[in-house]
Amino acid sequence: MKTLKLVGNLEMPVIGLGTWRASPEEVQNAVTIALECGYRHIDTAFNYNNEDAIGNALKSWIDSGKGTREDLFITTKLPNFGNRPTDVERFLKMSLKRLQLDYVDLYLVHMPFSFHCNEASLTPLVNEDGTFSLENSDLVDVWKAMEEQVERKRTRAIGVSNFNEDQLRKIYESAKIKPSVLQVELHAYLQQKKLREFCQKLNVAVTAYSPLGSPGANAHFSTKYNYSLKDFPDILGHPDVKEISQKYAKSPGQILLKHLVQQNVIVIPKSGNRDRIRENMDLFDFELSKEDLDKLDLLDKGEDGRIFTFLFFKGVENHPEYPFKKH
Ligand SMILES: NC(=O)c1ccc[n+]([C@@H]2O[C@H](COP(=O)([O-])OP(=O)(O)OC[C@H]3O[C@@H](n4cnc5c(N)ncnc54)[C@H](OP(=O)(O)O)[C@@H]3O)[C@@H](O)[C@H]2O)c1
Repeated sequence: MKTLKLVGNLEMPVIGLGTWRASPEEVQNAVTIALECGYRHIDTAFNYNNEDAIGNALKSWIDSGKGTREDLFITTKLPNFGNRPTDVERFLKMSLKRLQLDYVDLYLVHMPFSFHCNEASLTPLVNEDGTFSLENSDLVDVWKAMEEQVERKRTRAIGVSNFNEDQLRKIYESAKIKPSVLQVELHAYLQQKKLREFCQKLNVAVTAYSPLGSPGANAHFSTKYNYSLKDFPDILGHPDVKEISQKYAKSPGQILLKHLVQQNVIVIPKSGNRDRIRENMDLFDFELSKEDLDKLDLLDKGEDGRIFTFLFFKGVENHPEYPFKKH
């Protein structure tokens, strides 16, 4: 598996298995299949509620002697109701326990905005009127607590997710240990070129989440939050993607992933299906031509292509650290 070198010489596999929305049963099976296929990088988060199942799959794989902990690259994330310096260690320790690991490879601040914590359920606190209970947090202070986790060897690298350029700059300038990775929504309709150039200058690697356009996310938003996006995109079904897919005899998913990987973007497609898990990492026996890369570049819709505005967290746009242009 091709890797990218992060600050501090850590090697991060350029393809990882995404696990959002995967139930414990699905994810345990998916991680087991993925490890068999050659994946070594798994992306999860405290609030995906599947770290226990991932931990079981990792333990079985290591116990079976097929590989070692050192072969793996595991990412998890500080939940948006844990963005306070006193909670970073607490949530990371809970994730490590669930994952049955002594350390993760990458720990990310999941979102720049934060909510008060409902301690009974370890979920965001929601007000009586349905709005989320916003909490102001100092991201620089949170970052200091993240650095401490590297020093205590609970994680090998730290980074951020869903931060905009100003937020990343602020952390970067104050950091003793620089962020290694920025994980953001990134696919053919939201190509984040300016943010990627900025990251390149800082030597921060970029991970693309929802690299396939997250088919199925709208149904989830609707069931869980009673929120849905008008005109949810079907990037896999775009005629240009289909045409390029036929030309290379690769699936539309492989074309979308290759478009990013060929530009040194790390991708973390989620799948619970054996064939698609395999397909999503089978990207290294072809190269897209300059002409086809350019054609895919033209699909960029900028801010209009964003799926994850997080407006399903009712009232989040009023948080001072809400990262995106107002929608
Ligand atoms: N940091 C953040 O805030 C954040 C936000 C969102 C996501 N993420 C991370 O990024 C990962 C990926 O994003 P995502 O899950 O939103 O979306 P995605 O990876 O773009 O799409 C996943 C969906 O595509 C289907 N799929 C997978 N491979 C396919 C292929 N080759 N062809 C056609 N369909 C395919 C999957 O169904 P099957 O399972 O049936 O194959 C699943 O429904 C997440 O799982 C999570 O780890 C992070």
